[in-house]
Amino acid sequence: MKKRDYLKDTIDHFDITKDDTRGLVKQFSKMAFQARNIARASTTFEKMLEDKDCSVVLCLAGSLFSAGLKKVVHDMVQNNMVDVIVSTGAIIFDQDMFEAIGFKHYIGTPYVNDKELCELHIDRIYDTFIDEDELRIADETVTKIIERLNGTYSSREFLVEVGSYLEENISDIKNRNSVIYSCYKNNVPIFVPALSDSCAGFGLVMLKEKYPDKDFVIDSGKDFHELTKVKIAAGETGLLMIGGGVPKNFAQDSVVSADIITGQTKMHKYAIQITVADERDGALSGSTLKEANSWGKVDSSQEQMVFCEATIGFPILASYAYHTRKWEKRKKKNWNNIFNPEKEKVNN
Ligand SMILES: NC(=O)c1ccc[n+]([C@@H]2O[C@H](COP(=O)([O-])OP(=O)(O)OC[C@H]3O[C@@H](n4cnc5c(N)ncnc54)[C@H](O)[C@@H]3O)[C@@H](O)[C@H]2O)c1
Repeated sequence: MKKRDYLKDTIDHFDITKDDTRGLVKQFSKMAFQARNIARASTTFEKMLEDKDCSVVLCLAGSLFSAGLKKVVHDMVQNNMVDVIVSTGAIIFDQDMFEAIGFKHYIGTPYVNDKELCELHIDRIYDTFIDEDELRIADETVTKIIERLNGTYSSREFLVEVGSYLEENISDIKNRNSVIYSCYKNNVPIFVPALSDSCAGFGLVMLKEKYPDKDFVIDSGKDFHELTKVKIAAGETGLLMIGGGVPKNFAQDSVVSADIITGQTKMHKYAIQITVADERDGALSGSTLKEANSWGKVDSSQEQMVFCEATIGFPILASYAYHTRKWEKRKKKNWNNIFNPEKEKVNN
């Protein structure tokens, strides 16, 4: 088999604007187990959108965009259903930026000769194939973007630069459903707290090798400080967490860091997590939101765990929220602008 025999059929992204899951969610609400939990999570998210004071923080972990969930997030940003994103690097760089610069993910299978895939430079994520040579171009793109920059950046600031690079260099970027680009245009901050653990890390390695004395730093302390400033400015917040990992903890901890600065911060008022992780190993990813209440991070009255794989649970919840149209009355939060005083003046 040749490479092109494996990389034929592309992954298509789920479109929440096409399929309306309100009827499904209503029926689920009268069932049991995870059906009722996803129904409760959907109506809790609806409440978050109705609450005019609440800023929605979307946390993303797992191989979500390569699996067809990129347009779900894109449409949520475009329709003012998300105010802040906290994500892993893989989702933002290896998957979103990768597709924004013209590449695709392919329908594959786990029942395959992986040695042969390796020889053909094909990477596998369970049943999805990726062209490793194209991923290398994504790494190089990160190096190219950083070559234009100097100084200390938070991941949020760096992603504004990536958005601006995409606007300048990809002529039809508006048609590519890129979350980075959509956030850039809608002033939605994206935080990637473990940025180096992705193809952006390979880009940074190449940069360090090529220009050992270059003045460019991604500062994770600045990241956390900026997210804390958003939490303080927002006051009321709700978390929608898909998967767990670093994004879940980073977003939850903004309550504690804001409290350290102000001495009087509110817990996240709403919290939803869709995950397959288990609480019994004591790790953060599977820890329940009820448990997070003991740490003072999440209010216990409006939390919902859903134990479900994200490619199923997330489109159901997001389509329900899109079709209830509560987002139409929301005021845009534009949190990126608090770091840009000139734009902030225009918005007020
Ligand atoms: N996933 C990739 O293909 C990939 C590629 C390159 C780098 N990385 C890096 O590896 C690190 C962590 O990897 P990760 O983001 O894959 O997450 P992870 O392995 O840290 O997963 C975090 C939690 O989310 C849950 N989860 C993940 N996918 C889920 C799904 N589809 N449905 C429900 N729950 C789900 C997991 O059970 C786990 O508890 C990140 O820094 C990332 O940038 C990942």
